[in-house]
Amino acid sequence: MGQAPDGARWWGVVPAAGVGRRVGSVIPKQYLDLGGQKVIDLTLSALVDHPRVQGVVVALDPADDHWPGTRFAGDARVQTATGGAERCHSVLNALRELALRAADTDWVLVHDAARPCLRSADLDHLMDALADESVGGILAVPVCDTMKQAGPAGRIQATVPREALWHAYTPQAFRIGLLRRALEAALAAGHLVTDDASAVELLGLSPRLVEGHADNIKITRPEDIPLALFFLKQQGRLC
Ligand code: CTP
Ligand code: MG
Repeated sequence: MGQAPDGARWWGVVPAAGVGRRVGSVIPKQYLDLGGQKVIDLTLSALVDHPRVQGVVVALDPADDHWPGTRFAGDARVQTATGGAERCHSVLNALRELALRAADTDWVLVHDAARPCLRSADLDHLMDALADESVGGILAVPVCDTMKQAGPAGRIQATVPREALWHAYTPQAFRIGLLRRALEAALAAGHLVTDDASAVELLGLSPRLVEGHADNIKITRPEDIPLALFFLKQQGRLC
């Protein structure tokens, strides 16, 4: 229990140092209430309470005074790291903290604090799909809308075939050492990557796409809050 076939262990990193500008709430979106529970508590419980996950590092804004009031603040399975200017900096800082207790060959699941609707079954599906994988992989969802490429003056330049297009979700899973090197190289080259797979792709590697459920949304805009509440109720995680 808790180990990959090669003996590698699973860990979590949760970037939670953003301000949630697009949601525009008074407090950062990861601390909003969803049916009596905080977004970050719901997100963290999906990882921390999973039997195969050894521990989680959460990256926090240095000025964050909401974290001490959360469910996992005093939990021995959860450590904190200092967040950075962008998500990629926050993840890298958390990986460096994780390196104090994890091996470079262990796996890390990087999961946005703003995705509280992750299903346990999707997490298992991702972990199982990577059993024989050398690079890593991400939860993702095939695009179902017709996709347009914008040209000048807000007009359509082209219709992009959607068959090969996927939405990149999280968790995104990689060996800790590989992801740390990939993020360091991306930042050194000036690429402020918006997900972890992008950094690994810049090394010339191709992470796996593992299909998950579309309800694992990232709360990004105000209208995502009632949607997340609805999905959590549907899943039976909130009444
Ligand atoms: N994040 C982070 N450090 C940053 C920026 C973002 O840890 N410097 C985290 C967020 O807390 C969130 C995840 O990365 O859990 C995904 O980022 P996003 O949805 O963009 O969140 P925010 O940056 O908070 O939102 P916005 O871009 O609207 O300000
Ligand atoms: Mg952001």
